[in-house]
Amino acid sequence: MSNGYYPYTGRFEVNRTIPDHGRDRAEVLAELAQMASEEDGSWESGQISGSYYCGDHEHYDYMKDVFGLFAHVNALQRDVCPSATKFTGEIIAMTLDLLHAEAVTDGTPCGLVTSGGTGSILHALIAYRDHARQTRGITNPNIIKPETAHAAFDKGSHLFGIEIRRVAIDPDTATVRPADVAALIDENTVAIIGSACNYGYGTVDPIEELGALALERGVGLHVDGCLGGFILPWGRELGYDIPLFDFRVPGVTSISADTHKYGYGFKGSSVIAFRDTALRNSQYFYLTDWTGGKYCSPGMDGSTSNGLLAATWASLLDYGKDGFRRVAKEIFATAATMQDAVTSHAELRIIGTPTFCFSFTSDLFDIYHVNDFMKLRGWRFNGQQYPNAIHMAVTGPQTQPGVAEKFTADLDEAVTYAVERKDEPAGSAAIYGGVSGGLTDEADEFIRAVMADMMDHQQAVPPLG
Ligand SMILES: Cc1ncc(COP(=O)(O)O)c(C=O)c1O
Repeated sequence: MSNGYYPYTGRFEVNRTIPDHGRDRAEVLAELAQMASEEDGSWESGQISGSYYCGDHEHYDYMKDVFGLFAHVNALQRDVCPSATKFTGEIIAMTLDLLHAEAVTDGTPCGLVTSGGTGSILHALIAYRDHARQTRGITNPNIIKPETAHAAFDKGSHLFGIEIRRVAIDPDTATVRPADVAALIDENTVAIIGSACNYGYGTVDPIEELGALALERGVGLHVDGCLGGFILPWGRELGYDIPLFDFRVPGVTSISADTHKYGYGFKGSSVIAFRDTALRNSQYFYLTDWTGGKYCSPGMDGSTSNGLLAATWASLLDYGKDGFRRVAKEIFATAATMQDAVTSHAELRIIGTPTFCFSFTSDLFDIYHVNDFMKLRGWRFNGQQYPNAIHMAVTGPQTQPGVAEKFTADLDEAVTYAVERKDEPAGSAAIYGGVSGGLTDEADEFIRAVMADMMDHQQAVPPLG
């Protein structure tokens, strides 16, 4: 990792052991305030894709007050914190309402609050695996995902011994073709996946067709609304062309929707909503004959902070439907302005028909030239591959006055810069190119080293041995 990842080296004390004496709180707080304000400075300009979904410090301050009231409370112990039961039930109820669970006539809708998008996807996968084992006797389960569906599905398959079958997308629409999914379904398929919307391109898979397929073949359909679940409903209401993806679609058996993205909660919360309790309840683990007592927890986590539940609950109440609508209107309008800026350049091409999140590439030059230039102007996009593309998930910070205009102006210059270098390799593609051609031994080692460095960097950890 480059030095940019370690800006505190040499500036703040390095703690290699617990200090002998507790440090002065004011001094520690001052250090942290310095780090926080520097880090906030990186996104407050509105030039970072995704990540900081509301960007509203007043909302954050309010949630901090709420969090503080319950931060120390263990949400697992419901006898001493019945508020966790209230928060959980109401977060799930509000999410089910947004996802039109009232339309369900063939089940009893329910949910789980999890630690994030990955957490919701993992819980969905265990539920499909265990439900299929219990009801269909499947011991060798598989799921089918469009290649654009999030990597968390692959992670879950890896963790839970589920075979994952990937389907190439239609390059014209950047969505999956249901017939391609159908071709991979067999007697061990427990679920098929669709995204609303996918992370890479912001496109929505044809959920209604996938739902019909799921019903016809007797498999589950998980809709990944981690990114879009809390914003696409408002976009539909505003008249944007967003296909139906919620529980009104027959055959949709679960939907993940992240409260910590466009629900504007703190990081660490999401909802996995199920069409029916039978699916959710199939993944419960409990141990009644443990010497430590009878243990049961509804999901994978053990103890968690009730502060996060409280803050998530309070976030939904703070915005209210009118607040979510107001912010969504600004986000969709900003995304449209930015997409117009992209399409105004014949050299650039938007992939598929995106929403508030869009991705673009070029058939003339390596799009990473554009990334290189935009980086110099303070922009941070997410890079993609197959094909090389860059993506922007528009969030609250981009809706500030002047940000979309700066994007437009900087992009004009970036295209000129890229055209001039069209026969040269791009700078940011160099690192990325290391793994784009397939996973070599060197690339494997590099990736493992980067992950280890996130935890073991020498500024904090003494060399071993
Ligand atoms: C579509 C989609 N699904 C799942 C996830 C995973 O969410 P998390 O990072 O909260 O685990 C993301 C994250 O960006 C996403 O965009």
